[in-house]
Amino acid sequence: MSFLEEIKRRRTFGIISHPDAGKTTLTEKLLLFGGAIQEAGAVKNNKIKKGATSDFMEIERQRGISVATSVLAFIYKDKKINILDTPGHKDFAEDTFRTLTAVDSVIVVIDVAKGVEPQTEKLVEVCRMRSIPMLVFINKLDREGKDAFDLLDEVEQKLGLTVTPMSFPIGMGYDFKGIYNIWEKKLNLFSGDNKTSISEGIEFDDLANPQLNEIIGETAAETLREEVELVSEVYPEFDRNEYLSGSLQPVFFGSALNNFGVKELLDAFIEIAPSPQPKKAEERLVDSKEEKLTGFVFKIHANMDPKHRDRLAFIKIVSGVFKRNSPYLHVRNGKKVKFSSPNAFFAEKKEIVDESFPGDIVGIHDTGNFKIGDTLTEGEQLNFKGIPSFSPEHFRYVNNADPMKSKQLYKGLDQLMDEGVAQLFTLDMNGRRVIGTVGALQYEVIQYRLEHEYGAKCTYENLQVHKACWVEPEDAKNDEFKDFKRVKQRYLAKDKQGQLVFLADSAFTIQMTQSKYPTVKLHFTSEFKNN
Ligand code: G4P
Repeated sequence: MSFLEEIKRRRTFGIISHPDAGKTTLTEKLLLFGGAIQEAGAVKNNKIKKGATSDFMEIERQRGISVATSVLAFIYKDKKINILDTPGHKDFAEDTFRTLTAVDSVIVVIDVAKGVEPQTEKLVEVCRMRSIPMLVFINKLDREGKDAFDLLDEVEQKLGLTVTPMSFPIGMGYDFKGIYNIWEKKLNLFSGDNKTSISEGIEFDDLANPQLNEIIGETAAETLREEVELVSEVYPEFDRNEYLSGSLQPVFFGSALNNFGVKELLDAFIEIAPSPQPKKAEERLVDSKEEKLTGFVFKIHANMDPKHRDRLAFIKIVSGVFKRNSPYLHVRNGKKVKFSSPNAFFAEKKEIVDESFPGDIVGIHDTGNFKIGDTLTEGEQLNFKGIPSFSPEHFRYVNNADPMKSKQLYKGLDQLMDEGVAQLFTLDMNGRRVIGTVGALQYEVIQYRLEHEYGAKCTYENLQVHKACWVEPEDAKNDEFKDFKRVKQRYLAKDKQGQLVFLADSAFTIQMTQSKYPTVKLHFTSEFKNN
């Protein structure tokens, strides 16, 4: 197969949802279609159960599972599909944001009864900001839920999307009869036990055909006709270019648990979803069809075995062919590196590969050289954009609890931050270190891992910070900036990249600071340059 054909057949995507909407179940059903797993139940629930905050075994178990399910790849109808796992737990949201920089599209799963939930809102907002093509799957149609039109309204309003239904449910819950596939003009009947046999659906070009009454009953047939007509009047027609540019989102209905509507989703997905897209670097736009290799690290996972402190760095190939044992430039540290055992991911296992193509994810063993966001090239000075840090939501001072082990503590903190577990800020005034996280759970993870992997002990101390604001002065030499630095001295810190950060204690402080120092810009993400 030629290089261009390899690119064209790849679909790299993530599934996002609020916990419990059915992401794991859907993933598993998708894998079944690829023949990647033989039975349901093979993909472990990659989530932290409620109340598990102090259960370290649970955290460790999670880490194990999340390596196994980080990338699930399979072949379906000759397409190479790479599903990138995105943790649903809100404390790991930042991990998900970063993974979203490596996908070419996403599938959003929504629970028909619960509708749009907070975590979905947050994640969709990130995808919307980046114009990532999104496809919506409304799940659990076998249960009582919201009216389909109300739900479509909710998706449009709460998520700011423009939807176009590609299928439509016939009844719901107890009365659920199936779906009409508007996209393929087929009727799919729900038997309640579709776990093993997948029906192909009945061709149904014309819903006016009286046969419909015989198949689903007169009332349901009338309702379906009216509803599908309403759909065609109210919603825009599907337009692939609009979907690809992120301005139109096709919607499918189904039940992942019953494997119903999943094949339709997958069939449409491989048709319409994008193959690897060009990616912005600070210097230029890199096209996937370029022959020279480029790629970037979007995730780092520590080894489970504390005796071997190597880590797995996940690299998304943006262009060219990644070859085993070829020398590549690690742009940040300026060194050429060769990889003798790069891993590719298939369903739940990983194996050493000789070649990987754009869209693929390669796992590389690393002893601490890589950081999230690092770029690999064949020599070009290139830095991929789009892995910003967002302001954490929790802030605590970190103290060394064992003075004999300070070296271990700082090394541990350094490496955990490179992995993206949390963010470290160093106060300008006194050099004290502050850890910022998205969720409280991370503090326990850090404490536990410092002790078990680095032999260091730490304690925390609360710090009242509302948001970390990255500071950008219009003119670093003007008096206004000098005044800002003098007055806010106690609240200024550096992030790990050495960028200046203002740790504001309230929303009011941010507002006041902005009006008092209009030439000092405050940003809520670390990546604000060259946008
Ligand atoms: P998540 O990864 O998004 O967190 O969700 P997950 O797939 O684990 O699904 C959450 C719960 O919803 C699971 O039940 C799952 O069986 C159920 N579920 C998923 N899809 C459907 C569906 O189409 N219909 C119905 N009725 N239920 C569905 P659980 O009891 O919480 O977990 P488990 O004990 O079955 O693993």
